[in-house]
Amino acid sequence: MQRIGSWFGDRFAERPAWMNALLLFAAVEVFVYSPWDVLCKPLAVDQDVWLGLVLTGWLAKLGGVVHWFVYVLALYGFLRMRRWMWPWASVYTAQVAFGMLVWPIAYVGGARGWMLGVAAGAALAFVAFALWRARELFDGRSVALPRRYGKWAVVTGASAGIGLEFARALAARGFCCVLVARREERLHAIAKELVATYGVDVRVVAVDLASPDGPDHLADEVADLEVGMLVSNAGFGYAGRFEKQDLSRLREMIALNCTANVVLTSRLLPPMLERRRGAVVITGSVAGRQPIPYHAVYSATKSFDLLLGEALWVELHDRGIDVLVVQPGPVATEFEEVAGEARTNPAADESAASVVAASLDALGHQPSVVSTWRNWLRANVNRFFPRSTVALIAADVMENQTPRAMR
Ligand SMILES: NC(=O)c1ccc[n+]([C@@H]2O[C@H](COP(=O)([O-])OP(=O)(O)OC[C@H]3O[C@@H](n4cnc5c(N)ncnc54)[C@H](OP(=O)(O)O)[C@@H]3O)[C@@H](O)[C@H]2O)c1
Repeated sequence: MQRIGSWFGDRFAERPAWMNALLLFAAVEVFVYSPWDVLCKPLAVDQDVWLGLVLTGWLAKLGGVVHWFVYVLALYGFLRMRRWMWPWASVYTAQVAFGMLVWPIAYVGGARGWMLGVAAGAALAFVAFALWRARELFDGRSVALPRRYGKWAVVTGASAGIGLEFARALAARGFCCVLVARREERLHAIAKELVATYGVDVRVVAVDLASPDGPDHLADEVADLEVGMLVSNAGFGYAGRFEKQDLSRLREMIALNCTANVVLTSRLLPPMLERRRGAVVITGSVAGRQPIPYHAVYSATKSFDLLLGEALWVELHDRGIDVLVVQPGPVATEFEEVAGEARTNPAADESAASVVAASLDALGHQPSVVSTWRNWLRANVNRFFPRSTVALIAADVMENQTPRAMR
């Protein structure tokens, strides 16, 4: 209970008390008042006020739906302190202030109407003014990531796909980047691009992270840097019936997808803990949320990543370290080719840039993220069925994607 309390405490610490009050107000509007107003209130007595004008009947219902929508946006905007909240939260509140000034004067009338109108209008105008002045608070926390975590980001698997997009996105946010993978020439070309485009410092470490000493070698290579973020992303899949798979390739997969994440986190974490700030991002997969025949070891490695990251999130979140497990669905990268599979509908693959955007959005807010609603639904609908049923369904899908020789 204490940990849950401290997690809520951290969430509320992100904004001043008056803004937390607005957040709670928005939550009540979203979950209590608006559902009742729109779904339960009889049409005959429904009223809605916009700019001091009282709407009735179906217009009032429509107004109620719009209010509901506005409060959903407000709740999300306050929770995430989104940049688009400025100036819209202030403009909307000013509109409400005007309505609350005019409405009692017009409909209550007399001295009482004026007193009510001026009091409510002035109080809300004050809130609108405070929201106007709060522009800096809505800074889209991701922009300030290097300030928040530390100057350097280590990105593994940066020569292609999701890792490459992580490196680009982090450099765009001002991180100096350590690019890690085996293909050194590619890494140097990407380093050139990042330096030229974003003016950040870049270091290249070409290493095989599946080799026994690979992760330690990388940790030694960055020991002189203030590493604020580790993106432990390098990984690969391997399609095929278990007994047909090459054991040395499976060993390599476990070493890269699991061991490297553990060793790198263990080696890079202590200085972060000393500074009480840092972030660890591990790329898992929606494949880690269920058994996947013909990708049995791969899905097991990704389950490992999910449980590792989520447990570390609990251990570390109140010590200044954010942990996030990224769980993409199918993404357009070199993954499929390396895994030796043939996807049935590659056109539907998500872009690596979109996975990275969802990850940076979720970092610091939650322990894991599934990018896109479609993947999220797919990953969560499974929970309602026995795992055996889910595995049987997955077997049919995966068999089609596995080359005949490996089935
Ligand atoms: N694409 C998808 O559909 C998908 C879906 C869910 C999860 N994921 C996960 O996303 C992560 C990134 O995959 P991706 O889709 O971006 O695939 P990708 O395009 O094949 O990129 C994989 C990256 O990992 C690096 N890498 C592979 N083996 C390595 C090794 N032994 N040592 C060091 N680096 C190594 C590769 O670089 P070098 O070859 O130059 O070493 C490359 O930069 C993986 O963990 C994967 O499991 C992918």
